[in-house]
Amino acid sequence: MKAIVDRSECIGCGLCTEACPEVFRMGDDDIAEVYAEIDDSLKSSAVEAQDSCPVSAITLED
Ligand code: F3S
Repeated sequence: MKAIVDRSECIGCGLCTEACPEVFRMGDDDIAEVYAEIDDSLKSSAVEAQDSCPVSAITLED
């Protein structure tokens, strides 16, 4: 599974990086970016990150 952040939608709240820091981090521009694939052990926290995003900027794909 992999995550995609729509960086044009992200408002930099940082909730995704708190929910799933193994996959999401804040870029130098304070907008979230994906830096790792989602293995099975990270699926639930990745879904939590997606659900927590206030502007629905995160998409998860198989
Ligand atoms: Fe941005 Fe949403 Fe994460 S606003 S910082 S992608 S929770």
